[in-house]
Amino acid sequence: MTNWKAIDLDAKTWIKEAGQHIIQSFSKGVTIETKSNANDLVTDIDKNTEQFFIRKIKENYPNHRILGEEGFGDKVSDLKGIVWIIDPIDGTMNFIRQQRNFAISIGVYEDGIGQIGLIYDVVNDELYHSIKGNGAFLNDLLLSPLEEIIVSEAIIGMNATWVTENNRIDPALLSPLVKHARGTRSYGSAAMEMAYIATGRIDAYISLRLAPWDIAAGIILIQELGGIASTLKGEPLNLLGQNSLFISKPGLHQEIMKNYLNDGKW
Ligand code: IPD
Ligand code: CA
Ligand code: CA
Ligand code: CA
Repeated sequence: MTNWKAIDLDAKTWIKEAGQHIIQSFSKGVTIETKSNANDLVTDIDKNTEQFFIRKIKENYPNHRILGEEGFGDKVSDLKGIVWIIDPIDGTMNFIRQQRNFAISIGVYEDGIGQIGLIYDVVNDELYHSIKGNGAFLNDLLLSPLEEIIVSEAIIGMNATWVTENNRIDPALLSPLVKHARGTRSYGSAAMEMAYIATGRIDAYISLRLAPWDIAAGIILIQELGGIASTLKGEPLNLLGQNSLFISKPGLHQEIMKNYLNDGKW
């Protein structure tokens, strides 16, 4: 039997330590490089943070595998055994430009089932954490199960890209939702937006293009609170490839799927 409480305790200790290193980098300056395009940025801190987790995990849990955004982990092509899915800094653009609105995101899976979800908003020292079946917490505070809400009262997290011309979705599909919702927000960190659903700061989050490390922790956290996570077509998420994401409080998910997303037939 895997001792999830012990793994969770280690992961929390390491995430706090990594957070301290990130805070220290603010006064030292960071080295910025581009990846796939001019807007796809990475810093030495993203890389160092991922390597820090990999060192700790390999030292303590040599049989576990690691899928990390910056590629220092293992080549993971299945989810057998225990796999850590890590985004060392989610919201790198914010990290560089704002020194806030970014988070460390860690999801731990066993045979494809989410067991531990951690999202750490470093600057605000807000650690969201959950072990499957044991509730979800913000620091020491036990979070309440998510309550149902209707579109006209909901705040939806969504990037404006998806209601402009783009090659993933017809903008006419989501623009009525933007119009009917109480409000929309875009924070620039998928992990943080999912964490904000957990606290009720927003009610749903929609994106058309996310990687496993963006969503691995958030879906564990939200499902633990009774929320629903799927692709924008209502299908199960795939943690080995890119996904659209529609993650939401209950009730709201069904309403949006039916009234705005034609039950996934688009
Ligand atoms: C990005 C953030 C952003 C989302 C992008 C992600 P990164 O992650 O989560 O909110 O819109 O799709 O790539 O690159 O800052 O870790
Ligand atoms: Ca990135
Ligand atoms: Ca990310
Ligand atoms: Ca990242």
